[in-house]
Amino acid sequence: MAGIYLHIPLCKKLCFYCDFYHIISTGDNTAFIDALLKEAVLRKDYLGQEAVSTIYFGGGTPSVLSIKELGDILAQIRRNYLVEENCETSIELNPDDVNPAFLEGLKELNFNRISLGIQSWRDTDLKMLNRRHDSAQAEKALKEIFSAGFENVSIDLIYGIPGMSQTEWSSILDFSFSFDIKHLSAYHLTFETGTVFGKMLEKGLIGEVDEEESIALFNILIEKSEAAGFIHYEISNFGKPGHFSLHNSNYWKQVNYVGLGPSAHSFNGYSRQWNLRDMKGYIKAVNSGKPFYEHENLDLKARFNEYIMTSLRTMWGIDLDYIENTFEKEGYDYVVNLAGKFKDYGLIRQNEKNLVLTNQGKIISDNIISEFMIPAED
Ligand SMILES: C[S@@+](CC[C@H](N)C(=O)[O-])C[C@H]1O[C@@H](n2cnc3c(N)ncnc32)[C@H](O)[C@@H]1O
Repeated sequence: MAGIYLHIPLCKKLCFYCDFYHIISTGDNTAFIDALLKEAVLRKDYLGQEAVSTIYFGGGTPSVLSIKELGDILAQIRRNYLVEENCETSIELNPDDVNPAFLEGLKELNFNRISLGIQSWRDTDLKMLNRRHDSAQAEKALKEIFSAGFENVSIDLIYGIPGMSQTEWSSILDFSFSFDIKHLSAYHLTFETGTVFGKMLEKGLIGEVDEEESIALFNILIEKSEAAGFIHYEISNFGKPGHFSLHNSNYWKQVNYVGLGPSAHSFNGYSRQWNLRDMKGYIKAVNSGKPFYEHENLDLKARFNEYIMTSLRTMWGIDLDYIENTFEKEGYDYVVNLAGKFKDYGLIRQNEKNLVLTNQGKIISDNIISEFMIPAED
């Protein structure tokens, strides 16, 4: 079981909050697609003989590519990797790229999971985020996706946008759940350094919502999604039973994956690689046989930190058997002792051999995770 991630760093417009590597698309994607097809061959041994059970096109905006371009990429993947027959094949779509002909094309290419970047149903929020679409386009897109016969549909929402009240956030969730979506990714807005919002924050032109408000919004999210039949399986992810994102769940379960495209990350249990975060540099390096990625071997401490960081964010939590088998008695004792303190405060609970965050714990998950981290020099 392994995954393939394809990073399509092309966008028609820049979202003010986004820190994922992206450039404004010129419309001519030939050089990029050529390099991506070459990379798929160059990296084909990275997963060994493992069968590929998930393929994920993320961005950026994968929906700026044509059906022909997406088809060429998928054909190259299917030629060079052992792709399972019912492989979860996902693509992120921007609402204004959606139309019946495009969706029909995606069906023919065997895409079976759609992730629609709605972000908010309020036009004031969408304008503020500098999105290309408005709420009417998002609603139309979502309806067209269902009409085209897609069943495994996820949407992305952002909360904690300045000016969005708790009542408005509740209505956004209610409206979202009035559609037959199977999955929701809901992220608290973060102000990343270097983004337009990051710069506005530095200049005092925009403010973050305060902590109390963030907690209230998060609690609304948990209550409403659970009442609508969703399982909160990762801090920012909610799925109907049987509809968790297999691709993302595999990241959190330490399954191997290869990432193709500028800035894409790869992981095979013992090492991490990350591709150049620069379109021109990436294309040049792939074409000239020069290294187009950096590589880091993960020592035992790095693997421990990696495991805690990913597992504790999920409903499966830290598996104490895995800890004992991989990090031996020393690792096991360290985790159990530290977890004891959080259990006393009601932030972590134990389910048989697993340590999971309580709802209280989820609110301060980043702090709890950082307490578990072992510094490299120790
Ligand atoms: C890889 S991005 C998806 C890109 C997709 N093409 C789109 O924008 O619709 C995944 C999601 O992360 C969320 N996201 C990205 N940057 C964020 C930020 N700074 N704060 C909160 N959520 C963010 C957005 O909901 C976005 O849809």
